[in-house]
Amino acid sequence: MRKLLVTGGAGFIGSNFVHHVLSHTDDHVTVLDKLTYAGNRASLDGLPEDRLRFVQGDIADAELVDGLFAESDAVVHYAAESHNDNSLNDPRPFLDTNIVGTYTLLEAARRHGIRFHHISTDEVYGDLELDDPARFSETTPYNPSSPYSSTKAGSDLLVRAWVRSFGVRATISNCSNNYGPYQHVEKFIPRQITNVIRGIRPKLYGAGENVRDWIHADDHSSAVLTILDRGEIGETYLIGADGEKDNKSVVELILELMGEPRDAYDHVTDRAGHDMRYAIDSTKLRRELGWEPRFRDFESGLAAAIDWYRTNEAWWAPSKDGVEAFYASKGQ
Ligand code: NAD
Ligand code: DAU
Repeated sequence: MRKLLVTGGAGFIGSNFVHHVLSHTDDHVTVLDKLTYAGNRASLDGLPEDRLRFVQGDIADAELVDGLFAESDAVVHYAAESHNDNSLNDPRPFLDTNIVGTYTLLEAARRHGIRFHHISTDEVYGDLELDDPARFSETTPYNPSSPYSSTKAGSDLLVRAWVRSFGVRATISNCSNNYGPYQHVEKFIPRQITNVIRGIRPKLYGAGENVRDWIHADDHSSAVLTILDRGEIGETYLIGADGEKDNKSVVELILELMGEPRDAYDHVTDRAGHDMRYAIDSTKLRRELGWEPRFRDFESGLAAAIDWYRTNEAWWAPSKDGVEAFYASKGQ
């Protein structure tokens, strides 16, 4: 039985990974999560208490982190400030958590010689033109656009340096946009679904031509577990499921699946520095580690997510008004 420490395990993707690990392995999981506005203890409800421990705390708290690393066999690091729009409003927490927090974990990994997997994003590569035949691969140069993505890029580079200079046994994965249950209502898909539930018109930034490469969070989790088990130390793996869609099509599909006219949305102020297109080539992960995504039908995955938000209003309702007030103050 492996003892896993999962940082950010009360967030959207981290909690999905905890559910995945507890149902697919015999591992014991300790979650370290600060429970910022984005963390929710309820996302871990119903899991076996004898194999799950929850510790509320900050990844930048070196003493706390050191004690938890001493008790763990491996660490999977999800904790981050994750939302681009927030990073444009107030970058400071992004530096504190994504840079200093990751540095604090790496120093503990170095002291304890512990296996470390770092979760990152395709946004470190910047963006692609709509008509560019290229997709991001492990050799694409870093070119981040936002305070969020630049702090994630910085954290990736710290991991690489700690591997090379100090022999830390780390891997990195960079994944595309996730969707699924338990995603905070500030993010694009949950915001529009919960808008429709509340009778508010969905909000599309700019013309809505921007493309994101959607992957179900369950597929992200199975990929991370594969890399943790079989990935080569020092290597980076891109995770994606060939799910490119423009934002306008996604909003129209949400409206259609929810029984509303496909054009019942508003165009609002665009995001500053808005990346145009992300696209992932995950050949390395598929060829070298044999991973494949399970969710190949975006429409049915989206329909299931809509059902989840309809039946779990108590989970998201406390955040909804504050999020909409924030966006309204920005003309979004
Ligand atoms: P999220 O915002 O839903 O969750 C982040 C979690 O981290 C929350 O539970 C929060 O309380 C916790 N946290 C924040 N600061 C902390 C700190 N200082 N100490 C301890 N815990 C802290 O984010 P998410 O969407 O689940 O993303 C998780 C990770 O995956 C991030 O590293 C993000 O960059 C990466 N990622 C996300 C996506 C996506 O589409 N959401 C895609 C690729 C990569
Ligand atoms: O690519 C991976 C990244 O995906 C992760 O690293 C980030 O943590 C995650 O938040 C996500 O970043 P995006 O900025 O792509 O996701 P977001 O949900 O904020 O927006 C998706 C797209 O939808 C983007 O083009 C902006 C647009 N958008 C967003 C909102 C909230 C709208 O058109 N309307 C909206 O109301």
